[in-house]
Amino acid sequence: MLKLANRVSTLKSSSIMEISAKAAQLKAQGYEVISLAAGEPDFNTPQPIQAAATLAMKEGITKYTPAAGFQALREAIAKKVTKENSYSVDPEEVLVTSGAKHGLYLTLQCLVNPGEAVLIPTPAWVSYRPMIELAGASVIPLPLYEEDGYRPNVDRWKGMAIPPNAKGIIINSPNNPTGVVYSREELMKLTGWALQRNLWIISDEIYEKIVYDNLAHTSVAALGPEAKRATITISGFSKSYAMTGWRFGWAIADKPFISKMAALQSQSNSHVTSFVQWAAITACDLPESVAGSMVAEFDKRRRYCMERLDKLSQHLSYTRPTGAFYIFINLSKWLIANKMTDLEFCKDLLEIAHVGMVPGSSFGKEHTIRMSYATNLENLTKAFDRLESFLTR
Ligand SMILES: Cc1ncc(COP(=O)(O)O)c(C=O)c1O
Repeated sequence: MLKLANRVSTLKSSSIMEISAKAAQLKAQGYEVISLAAGEPDFNTPQPIQAAATLAMKEGITKYTPAAGFQALREAIAKKVTKENSYSVDPEEVLVTSGAKHGLYLTLQCLVNPGEAVLIPTPAWVSYRPMIELAGASVIPLPLYEEDGYRPNVDRWKGMAIPPNAKGIIINSPNNPTGVVYSREELMKLTGWALQRNLWIISDEIYEKIVYDNLAHTSVAALGPEAKRATITISGFSKSYAMTGWRFGWAIADKPFISKMAALQSQSNSHVTSFVQWAAITACDLPESVAGSMVAEFDKRRRYCMERLDKLSQHLSYTRPTGAFYIFINLSKWLIANKMTDLEFCKDLLEIAHVGMVPGSSFGKEHTIRMSYATNLENLTKAFDRLESFLTR
């Protein structure tokens, strides 16, 4: 076998993608599998975005583009952010990336040195840790507590020694896996805490448009000039416009940092696909009602799931989600009684009941599971019927 480089020798593929692959395998064998594992809207990409991509292809927008992205797109993103996210952005502060994920990857490669550390309020999205480790840095989890509704509570970290090699912190609101949306006040406190410790802030706002209960999303960089100066914002339309497969997102940071990220992009994937970029210009200009109608549909599903979960309260509890499309479920009572780990539970649930969910330990929190409600009500009804019989077997 070829000899692997040390940097990838312990690297694993995303556990969520693995569960989704296993679910797809069972489906191919003829089983009716309902996967609530992947964080992927089931809607089609809005028609105007599709039409713009088709037209771009026909018009020959199929060649190399600047590494940082088409200038017209950088301008459209800067305009969108200035208008919707309430802080002013110059097009030179924008990098077009292959999804939010590659934006995060480029950020970490450009920000952290081997031997440094990045703080992550935990539970947290599965890909942060491997990306930090690929940059040669280590992870310092900052615990979030179920009793606090998984909200950041800086007083909890008072006694923690933050080592001098800590370089940054990743903030993610609306949050995956908890579905919690941090308030402006909470973000002010968290940002103040980070700035006092000279940490750079990576703010992952990929779920920015998916909020419920009349709450509003707050961008970290909108909290003031100091916050903006210290923040690299990552976002995109994968979730809000059902564009997961298009691989489009963006990063916003100061100009020298963005130009280094563009250099790294130019030496690796070159740039985001030309006609995808062209269609993204249209996406930046869509009226609020486009994401709004998808959010209204997600909200119906969220309410249905909470109703069903409330009926299972003798076995589990959950934190009320107010954003994204996930519910984070505490299954400790049932798991301890049945002497099972969350990973074993998810494997059995998939193999026996043909329902896919993600073990919470992948997000750094044992005895929990994450379900996504980015699927239709018919599927959710079947999934809950099966979950109910699985738990009461
Ligand atoms: C918190 C978080 N950040 C980033 C991403 C990646 O988004 P994209 O598909 O735009 O790369 C995801 C996708 O699941 C996510 O949940």
